[in-house]
Amino acid sequence: MNAPEAPLHWHGSGTSRVPFGAYTDPALYQRELDRLFHGPHWCYVGLAVEIPNTGDYKLSWVGERQVIMVRDRVAPKDRGSDPGIRVVENRCAHRGVRFCQPPMDGQVGNARSFVCPYHQWTYKLNGDLAGLPFKDGVKDGDCVNGGMPADFDLSKNGLTKLRVAVLHGLVFATFSDEAEPLEAYLGDALKPWLDRIFAGRELKLLGYNRQRIPGNWKLMQENIKDPYHPGLLHTWFVTFGLWRADQKSRMVMDAHGRHAVMISRRNDGGENKTVTQGVTSFKADMKLNDPRLLDVVPEPWWTIADPQQPGQTITPTVTMITLFPSVIIQQQVNSLSTRHIVPRGPGEFDFVWTHFGFADDTEEMTTRRLRQANLFGPAGFVSADDGEVIEFSQDGFRQWGADGSTLCELGGKADGVGQPPTEHMVTETLIRSMYAYWRKAMGL
Ligand code: FES
Ligand code: FE2
Repeated sequence: MNAPEAPLHWHGSGTSRVPFGAYTDPALYQRELDRLFHGPHWCYVGLAVEIPNTGDYKLSWVGERQVIMVRDRVAPKDRGSDPGIRVVENRCAHRGVRFCQPPMDGQVGNARSFVCPYHQWTYKLNGDLAGLPFKDGVKDGDCVNGGMPADFDLSKNGLTKLRVAVLHGLVFATFSDEAEPLEAYLGDALKPWLDRIFAGRELKLLGYNRQRIPGNWKLMQENIKDPYHPGLLHTWFVTFGLWRADQKSRMVMDAHGRHAVMISRRNDGGENKTVTQGVTSFKADMKLNDPRLLDVVPEPWWTIADPQQPGQTITPTVTMITLFPSVIIQQQVNSLSTRHIVPRGPGEFDFVWTHFGFADDTEEMTTRRLRQANLFGPAGFVSADDGEVIEFSQDGFRQWGADGSTLCELGGKADGVGQPPTEHMVTETLIRSMYAYWRKAMGL
């Protein structure tokens, strides 16, 4: 195991200060790959609806390893219990080639089997090695030239198969045999919030955005565990009341502090001196030329039984779910997406947005979801701000050096793990809780 290049200067055992080295140190980053992304954690790879038919596949990532999420043939007797979704590593068992290249028109294709271009080794959809050329040598008269040794076993030379778990059409995978079952990994506190969006629903794929952000991958997790910034950084949120400090909100975390949900309910926006005075991003006279961008229509599934207050219901307009370490699930009014975090070194990650709706949406609702998706993605009216501040953060950490640290003491210094949810948004508790888990998982 690599030791960090420079020791991290924590302020005691807490996580209200996070050393800059956590974002910049290459050896620590390698440890993150080993222990988090490639270790006993479940990583998001895609949505089942992206590969509806047998042979459909999508290239995806678990940490820095490229994988193929594929819909396998399933025997009729197993249908129902087995959705047939497999995840295999995109690395040939022969000489290590990344054999599957993205189809010309995107990341999704269809195959009967996978054939490596280098020496034509052929794999079944489930990753088993089906065959290879000249395995038994080439006949020359009475003798046979070459071929694999007699003890070569096809069944022992397939692709690396990951463990796969599918929850409500969300597909997760792990390289680890030690990872606990997915539902336990996600935990009870998040369940109602995942069920609220996904349970019993067929999804409809609406499209993708992709971007590369020059910052550490954890900054994206932090950004969506940070309820403090949206009403300050984002003109759209504070001006139109989609997220700001005068709203009823709740911050929920799992029992380890690693996953979270930020929950809130929009208001009408406009001026409210306690939250808009002096806020430079608040534009009192900003009006939309096209009001359809905020044509919000409440949906019945927004209301659920309140997990915190028995006998009551709760109707948020926004839930931002962070599943450690690899994905964010967003509902902001009628816009829904998953956002996949793909790390690429300590100072860079790819961010893949998959916008979706539901199979039974009216055409009008689909159009509405797509229109509202303009708030998000690389050039989104809101999310462009986040990509930019993450880049600025990384720049600041680099220029200071590893012995500085960020300060996240809003709402106190405690990490909040094991405590009831915070019922407001003036807190950085979800960031502290994530680093409490991170320190533990990383052995720091
Ligand atoms: Fe794939 Fe040889 S490297 S078949
Ligand atoms: Fe933001």
